[in-house]
Amino acid sequence: MAWKPSIDLRGPLRQRRANANPVSLHHFLPSAVADMDLQGLQHRRILLGVSGGIAAYKACELTRRLREAGAEVRVALTANAARFVTPLTFQALSGQPVRADLWDEAAEMGMGHLELARWAQRIVIAPASADVIAKLAHGFADDLLTTLCLASEAPLAIAPAMNHRMWRHPATQANIATLRTRGVAILGPEDGPLAEGESGPGRLMEPQAIAAVLAQQESTARANGRLGGVRVLIDAGPTYEDIDPVRFLGNRSSGRMGFAMAQAALDAGAQVTLVAGPVHLSTPPGAARIDVRSAREMREAVVAAAVEADIFIATAAVADWRPQQASAHKLKKGQAADTLSLIENPDILAEVAARANRPFVVGFAAETKDLERNAREKLARKKLDVIAANEVGADRGIDTDDNALHLYWNGGQQMLARAPKPQLASALIDRIATLYASRRDGR
Ligand code: CTP
Repeated sequence: MAWKPSIDLRGPLRQRRANANPVSLHHFLPSAVADMDLQGLQHRRILLGVSGGIAAYKACELTRRLREAGAEVRVALTANAARFVTPLTFQALSGQPVRADLWDEAAEMGMGHLELARWAQRIVIAPASADVIAKLAHGFADDLLTTLCLASEAPLAIAPAMNHRMWRHPATQANIATLRTRGVAILGPEDGPLAEGESGPGRLMEPQAIAAVLAQQESTARANGRLGGVRVLIDAGPTYEDIDPVRFLGNRSSGRMGFAMAQAALDAGAQVTLVAGPVHLSTPPGAARIDVRSAREMREAVVAAAVEADIFIATAAVADWRPQQASAHKLKKGQAADTLSLIENPDILAEVAARANRPFVVGFAAETKDLERNAREKLARKKLDVIAANEVGADRGIDTDDNALHLYWNGGQQMLARAPKPQLASALIDRIATLYASRRDGR
């Protein structure tokens, strides 16, 4: 029962806190709690687990608060929770399908349970019953919620709610101690009147206080993230070089790797600017996106944004050439020349790397042969800090869901095995963060 909130308890609240039982947050003034900064929840993907108990209705309020603070919320109910509040209520409040069963075939066709476990950036169980706490402590995975917890790497917070004798029982206390040693945040319970007319520790922490703690944890995690406060500029996707108003030269890049890099950088705490060529992808929440079409437009946007960037990652498949002249009108069959005259586009990456006050520069290399030789040559010629090289071909690298990368830098290399692009992007961001930190600290 020694959970200590690290939230900033301002003014009179701090005074109250000093006098309060250290485990209890029920002395919080609701208005002061409502004032708390929920900024950290913006764009976060939160999985809310609800287990059975009379306090399950308060999870509705929590869902609303998390969403109001800008979080995306998905709810998983235990079978017992669904007896207290219907999945439909949570569906309406979260705006997302709600799951209550591991064996729901229709739901598995949508976002499968393992995908849901990966989707979550944070899991909170409120209320957490004695039964769920026991299952978590012992690694059970015999229903949807416990399976999700076991299958996810996201940090877990639980807000227990139960009868005070169940809470005080040595079995529950031992389970709580086990979870605490695993880094699970135990929020509450509060001391006060309980449902059965009794009183004692066992009340669910107020939803607004739970939201405030989660927001604080998110803010701290971001600030302490590997790229906390670092400004990352990423270009992504193809460029289109117009021949006339209906025709263009382009390439098969989907932009997925660049967008996955933006998401991974955001997850690591970075401030991200994403310069995107013509792609059909939604913006990773929290990234500032600038849409462009041609290489020249991309160059202009990147060069302007690079002034403010600590790291530049060039994932874009910039067209090397453009037609010497783009026709203002659609070319008619008879008008087309036999040959299309091309001129070279600016090399955006090389230009940023050549600047006096340059950011840490990461390039990509798409190669069909002699991977290492070509990549190292580009690393040196374009004066890059790191190059990520991949083999491209009909079913490799470009416009695919997964990829493998060879990283090269002066004095090192690393192979990132074939993986889905989001996973690969996280591994690459991790390496970039390490190399960037050692460069910045002059190691
Ligand atoms: N790049 C760029 N501007 C260009 C061409 C490429 O910024 N006009 C960047 C890409 O975003 C990538 C890196 O340069 O990070 C290497 O791209 P790649 O097409 O592999 O190499 P090129 O320099 O175009 O050389 P080549 O096509 O001869 O292999």
